[in-house]
Amino acid sequence: MIDQNKIREQFPILNQKINGYDLIYFDNGATSQKPLTVIDSISNYYKNSNSNIHRGVHTLSRTATELFEKSRKTIANYFNVKNDQQIIFTAGTTDSINLVANGLAKNYLKRGDEIILSTYEHHSNILPWQLWAEENGGKLKVIPLLEDQSLDYVSLEKLISDKTKLIAITQVSNTLGLITDLEKIKSIAQKNNIPVLLDGAQSAPHMAIDLQKLDVDFFVCSAHKMYGPTGIGLLYLSEKWLKELPVSKPGGGTIKTVTFEKTEYAEGALRFEPGTPHIAGAVGFAAAIDFINEVGIQKIFDHEDELVQYAQLKMTEIPEVIVYGKSAHKAGVISFNVKGQHPFDVGTLLDKYGIAVRTGHHCTQPLMQCLTIQGTVRISFAIYNTKQEIDFFIEKLKKVITMLS
Ligand SMILES: Cc1ncc(COP(=O)(O)O)c(C=O)c1O
Repeated sequence: MIDQNKIREQFPILNQKINGYDLIYFDNGATSQKPLTVIDSISNYYKNSNSNIHRGVHTLSRTATELFEKSRKTIANYFNVKNDQQIIFTAGTTDSINLVANGLAKNYLKRGDEIILSTYEHHSNILPWQLWAEENGGKLKVIPLLEDQSLDYVSLEKLISDKTKLIAITQVSNTLGLITDLEKIKSIAQKNNIPVLLDGAQSAPHMAIDLQKLDVDFFVCSAHKMYGPTGIGLLYLSEKWLKELPVSKPGGGTIKTVTFEKTEYAEGALRFEPGTPHIAGAVGFAAAIDFINEVGIQKIFDHEDELVQYAQLKMTEIPEVIVYGKSAHKAGVISFNVKGQHPFDVGTLLDKYGIAVRTGHHCTQPLMQCLTIQGTVRISFAIYNTKQEIDFFIEKLKKVITMLS
């Protein structure tokens, strides 16, 4: 059992009224709140250790470098990565996917090649590939959904051809909350020798992730969805791609030697980290990992799973509510609509009761097109959410339905 009061005390932002009601923050899929330890780690960094990293002989620079590289180690350990150089600091999931796409475009992806995505990808895992495809006569192929809105894994086999160069897929759908069956994807990918990019933006906040066991080629996630700061995330590269992914974003810090004729790039993570990185962000990211470790990721998953099952059951009992991707196999997210009502109206009225939800297409317009809807209302949970909050939400949702009808 988790001590809910003790956890909530660490998130001062939760202790406020919105429109006269206690804030209920159900928008964790967009970004989670930050515990005091994360806020303090960033503040302490700027108070005591701020300096530019690498290539500095003075004490403060060495301290900042140590903190930055220690953060990389903390994060690599958490994800069970063999070599911490396989963890590259980026601005977040979107930045990481762009780094892979631009790198692969240099010497791996060839004219007319094909990339497989799923119907429920976030735009961040569509647009970089689409841009490449448009410029190179490439093709995107899409794993369709079944009737229950889960992925049609059987059809994946049929999508594969000798031109398939990558499967880029999310581990958890940010709109439906459904967990992708990675074993099925991997077994097909491995049989056909196709690399896999796994978008962990919505899985890393909720589930244990062991990157040696997952054994994918690329893994990406954002700190801000896992109790850390905005503007920092990671790109994990398998050992093979750490050696083979071309540099696509050069700059100070990525090099070994430079002449006007030729540059020799550094090896390891620095090769992909141009310019002054988000040092305080890396420190805050590591503090967020420490927070997750302290609570225990399995406890976080179990608690949020209980909330999802509880809320999903209560919502399906309301006849006016349509829940999308109804399944027991979900992580932290429920999307729904009220029949005949626009999601913005539902979200705006819930805000009047202090309940923060997200409304719209959730950066998954192709999924919306597949479901033939404009958008949904999405509630998404974190470790500090409670069943009492769900009870209050259900009570007010019923009130909102009455008001709108
Ligand atoms: C599945 C998924 N992928 C990618 C992203 C983009 O993440 P970021 O905005 O942190 O780059 C998100 C953000 O919501 C997401 O949910």
